[in-house]
Amino acid sequence: MSTRNSPPGRIEGKVAIVTGGGSGIGLAIAEKFTQAGIETVIVGRDEKKLSQAKEKLGKKCHPIICDLSNLSTIPSFVCDVTRQFGQIDILVNNAGINMKKIIEEVTDEDFQKVITTNLTAVFVVSREVVKQMVKQGSGSIINISSMAAQYGLPKVIAYSASKTAIDGMTRAMAVELGPKGIRVNAIAPGFIITDMTDKALNSDPERKAKVFNRTPMGHMGQTSDIGDAALFLASDAAKYITGVVLPVDGGNSIGF
Ligand code: NAI
Repeated sequence: MSTRNSPPGRIEGKVAIVTGGGSGIGLAIAEKFTQAGIETVIVGRDEKKLSQAKEKLGKKCHPIICDLSNLSTIPSFVCDVTRQFGQIDILVNNAGINMKKIIEEVTDEDFQKVITTNLTAVFVVSREVVKQMVKQGSGSIINISSMAAQYGLPKVIAYSASKTAIDGMTRAMAVELGPKGIRVNAIAPGFIITDMTDKALNSDPERKAKVFNRTPMGHMGQTSDIGDAALFLASDAAKYITGVVLPVDGGNSIGF
């Protein structure tokens, strides 16, 4: 089924994994993918959220329950996807958590929890998926980064560390995997309306005002803006693009 959302090149029938695909940005990415005819596996912890997403997105959406912070369970879920679909063409590492505290109050456990979900799990999922992509000689990996890796943001020390590492890992993977036909890129969303930003900004009017002051386009983004960018990077329209961190931010990263 080809829809007006299909980008140039054949994307219909490809197989994608979107982590954290049950809500927010991940759900919007999964929606764009399913509309373009991609078999889209959404991975998350919350069974109810995943089944609501399945109901919304229809038969091209395939939920899998997995807590990615439980690293040892990752290889078996990736194996299940390969067994069921025979291929993995696209991986979107989107699942992430945030934690807002002043540095003196961040415990070792707090720090490690964010790093495990936002960084180590991204590495482990990517490594397992890459094994399959190398066999195919093709693939597109998209990591969801953040403005926290573009400039210094106070009170999100672990989150900033994790997302900055994601940008470095994106470049390292792009260089290592380019010769094997695998492209690796990142998207750095600006301030996008989701539950995560609701919590982070509505509790902090000063921070919210700052966001708007340095966003030339003057408003927050929609989750579908990130979905559009992910579909582009996953598609053959981006076949010569690898190793980039693409800001989708209304100009926030270059705002004065
Ligand atoms: P969200 O909280 O709506 O979505 C995050 C998803 O990840 C949820 O579905 C959650 O269940 C899942 N998840 C978290 N930990 C998990 C785990 N251990 N195992 C499996 N699934 C897990 O948040 P949002 O805003 O949609 O964020 C998505 C990504 O975009 C995150 O990586 C976030 O850092 C990034 N981002 C978001 C921005 C925004 O403005 N909303 C800005 C910049 C980056």
